[in-house]
Amino acid sequence: MQTINQTEPTVIVIFGGSGDLTWRKLMPALYNLYLADMMPKKFMILGLGRQDMSDQQFRKRLHEGVNKFSRSGKADAKTWNRFAKNILYKGADFNKAEIYNNIKKQIASLEKEWDTTLTRIFYMAIPPQMIEVVASRIGKAGLAADKLKSRLVIEKPFGRDLATAKALNKKLAEIFEECQIYRIDHYLGKETVQNIMAFRFANALFEPIWNRNYIDHVQVTVSEQLGVEDRGGYYETAGALRDMIQNHLLQLACLIAMEPPVSFNADEVRNRKVDVLRAVRKISHSDVHNYAVRGQYDAGWINGKKVVAYRSEKSVDPNSKTETFAAFKFFIDNWCWQNVPFYLRTGKRMNETISVITIQFKPVPHQAFPQESVENWQPNKLILNIQPDMGIRLRFQAKQPGLSMYLTPVDMLFDYSNTYTVGTPEAYETLLLDVMQGDATLFMRADQVEAAWEILTPVIDTWNANPSVNFPNYAAGMQGPEDAEALIARDGKSWIAMAFGEKN
Ligand code: BG6
Repeated sequence: MQTINQTEPTVIVIFGGSGDLTWRKLMPALYNLYLADMMPKKFMILGLGRQDMSDQQFRKRLHEGVNKFSRSGKADAKTWNRFAKNILYKGADFNKAEIYNNIKKQIASLEKEWDTTLTRIFYMAIPPQMIEVVASRIGKAGLAADKLKSRLVIEKPFGRDLATAKALNKKLAEIFEECQIYRIDHYLGKETVQNIMAFRFANALFEPIWNRNYIDHVQVTVSEQLGVEDRGGYYETAGALRDMIQNHLLQLACLIAMEPPVSFNADEVRNRKVDVLRAVRKISHSDVHNYAVRGQYDAGWINGKKVVAYRSEKSVDPNSKTETFAAFKFFIDNWCWQNVPFYLRTGKRMNETISVITIQFKPVPHQAFPQESVENWQPNKLILNIQPDMGIRLRFQAKQPGLSMYLTPVDMLFDYSNTYTVGTPEAYETLLLDVMQGDATLFMRADQVEAAWEILTPVIDTWNANPSVNFPNYAAGMQGPEDAEALIARDGKSWIAMAFGEKN
């Protein structure tokens, strides 16, 4: 539960301070927390990066980033200056021990000046291959010795398969307690994603029908019109399965499939989610083609503008076999979900930007109306729009006004923008505040990350062993490859990704 100013004096050390994440996401989020009076009364942000810059130059760069990316628009000069006084920068080679000793001295002198023990947050906004080095240096320097007050924040990707994730978890466990490690999946900080739990567990209406007896199947679509932008180098090592399905989409599925938690204690919630991942039915290597589909975008058109193929993007191999689209079907072997298929799909350069979860209910057991009344009939659907539209829709049948009995689907709608006037915090605001307050509920525990990798291991192995021969296989601006349609059509279903205004 987050309340104003209950956060203790804090130092946030950002490794990768001069990087893109700090510029676009972290600093705008911290500044918005400051505007909302949610930053600790006393805090210091220390950016460390490869570039050499003075504090002034660093602050100026961050100011530009805030002006460009903050949801609250341009920063008022006076307020920014008050905030920026708390920001320092140091050019640093993270391999060198002296950097960590300097941080130690700096924190010690702040603690002396403020006469308190600081909460210490070490944020890893750095490439994955650097995490181990930096974490062990932090450990060796004794910077995280206070287990209750020192925390490590780690960005995804966490490992690149089960073996590497396990190895990293093992290494971190030698230095930190699990409760000190905050693995970020920024989807979990999104307002609409947090609302899934409120919707399910604060209402008596839905839980009784939230099971195999009433639900036909579940779909999660996260499609983006954006391509890989400047991240070709990273994306070549990842692909859609690792970049999105392993984390964001599987986590959304967990929120739909988890059992009601007994309390909102961080471990209780995470236990219920990991139960889901562990119950996902294993697939054999020879069966992968029935459960997983990949694609890569070709040149095409997005909003009337011509865009290049993935293979022509910056830092991408012209013969790249990396997938920019992935779809994955799975079953959860427990009482609640036996034989209810879950379908996930995500892609770049798709026809629209939309993140949506659809729960499709079963048909009525008996159709009492004459055929001509129900030509337009559809099973009930519950549609959770995550972004860019934010809301929840329940689709049901109603009699169309008129002299004959003619049924058409209509929607009951909860729309954030019409319901609330307050702005919606960005995911990083929520997550950074949680880290400062020591609440790990929305962060990934070691076992969750490993369970998610385990589910995808047969797909990763099979795709590695058999690089695609038909890439590129969808034009930019389309809905992904034909194989993805076939994956779901084989089960007599089709993809649904309804934006708010859509009728069908
Ligand atoms: C990131 C992925 O985790 O999520 C990106 O690495 C993706 O490839 C992004 O574009 C999507 O996040 P959002 O919040 O814009 O939906």
